[in-house]
Amino acid sequence: MTATHAFWLAGRQATGETTFDVNSPWDGRLVGRVSVPTDEQVEEAVAAAYAVRDEFAATPAHVRAAVLDHVSRSLVERTEEIARLISAENGKPIKWARGEVGRAVSVFRFAAEEARRFNGGEAQRLDTDLGGQGRLAFTRRFPKGVVLGIAPFNFPLNLCAHKIAPAIAAGVPIILKPAPATPLSGLIIGELIADAAADLPAGSWSVLPVANDRMPALVQDERLPVISFTGSEKVGYAIMDSAPRKHCTLELGGNGAAVVLADWASDEDLDWAATRIATFSNYQGGQSCISVQRVIADASVYDRLLPRIVAAVEAQVTGDPADGATDVGPLVSEDAAKRVEAWVQEAVDAGAALLAGGKRDGASYAPTVLADVPADVTVSCEEVFGPVLTVRKVEGEAEAFAAVNDSKYGLQAGVFTHDLQTAFRAHRALEVGGVVIGDVPSYRADQMPYGGVKQSGVGREGVRFAMDDYTYERVMVLTGIQL
Ligand code: SIN
Repeated sequence: MTATHAFWLAGRQATGETTFDVNSPWDGRLVGRVSVPTDEQVEEAVAAAYAVRDEFAATPAHVRAAVLDHVSRSLVERTEEIARLISAENGKPIKWARGEVGRAVSVFRFAAEEARRFNGGEAQRLDTDLGGQGRLAFTRRFPKGVVLGIAPFNFPLNLCAHKIAPAIAAGVPIILKPAPATPLSGLIIGELIADAAADLPAGSWSVLPVANDRMPALVQDERLPVISFTGSEKVGYAIMDSAPRKHCTLELGGNGAAVVLADWASDEDLDWAATRIATFSNYQGGQSCISVQRVIADASVYDRLLPRIVAAVEAQVTGDPADGATDVGPLVSEDAAKRVEAWVQEAVDAGAALLAGGKRDGASYAPTVLADVPADVTVSCEEVFGPVLTVRKVEGEAEAFAAVNDSKYGLQAGVFTHDLQTAFRAHRALEVGGVVIGDVPSYRADQMPYGGVKQSGVGREGVRFAMDDYTYERVMVLTGIQL
């Protein structure tokens, strides 16, 4: 019999009246059964979080840091078990799931370090003008209020970590909602926090697997003035539009571009670029907002790069995500794979050349390369969120950068160049939240500011940046000070 996974309500385990099943996207087997909080239990969690917000903000840094350190160490100890869980509920190949646990280890460790550093207070002398003589401004950060964190399915552990770890580090209560397809990884985080959270106010954290259709009430709840959402553009902006007076951080979609410029031309350069492009257009089945979706290559290297990319994509090992050799597993659902299939077919019907892949088997979609893709088809305009890349030839750097910017999205871009001046020009010209030089757009270190511009969202994550996002500066002016 499958045990039911309890949720975390104001720091304690609880069960509701109903459950839902979590099934493997690979073979449909039951991975877990999850208890669903009732409306009364959700209300209890929100009321508890609201009630403890001053107490939590006043909790000593060493208490909060100790909890975060404990979670980080526990993730190390339980890496294999948790990676297997991620892989089972999400379909992510085990090697990528292990990598995800490793990243969550770092997120909680960074959060512990930041908790110790945060809010030391900054002083600013004001006697720069006559009216400020004898005055000193002293600034500290205070919570904006309880955070509603809404996490996606594609990194079910680490993107939950990116919501809850900064909240604990900054002393800000949080209600975390994991994705309905992949709640088990978020609930594990709850278990690890609970092991060490005896000294935190009980109401300071909850992990509630609430169905998406029950979220509007929480989004509207005035006791939750901060919303940190990671997911689709459509849902993210619907949340923001429905709660315009709230502080919303939206980490939304992207159609990451990898630019290969004329100076990236040796055989070694092109082999490296092709390998990285093939790997990171397909990791997690392309279900990352910064996976490589668009390759934009200078005409002088295009003909040598393209066959290398096709060969590297065809070399990706597809299959059972539990197998250590697998590079590409299933998408999150058969519906997701059918959507990708339809978009690729639309491109081919419109004249695109299918150079690899293009086949679906249940929830799995073969790593796919398209060239000569018309600009107005869906794969050229939208986020595919599948293992599909398009390749385009351009003449020179200016056209390449214009092609990157010719998108409603702006999350990250990769630029393969050896030239420092080109790197700085790319940094200036590209309308994205992050530019990676000499690699794909998919590189993310968890302490970096991470987020987009245009339709890719607003605000930044990355532990310290999320802590800033959850808090605001409050200045105190001291008078009569001898400076
Ligand atoms: C995302 O899909 O936005 C997250 C990517 C990452 O954390 O690597």
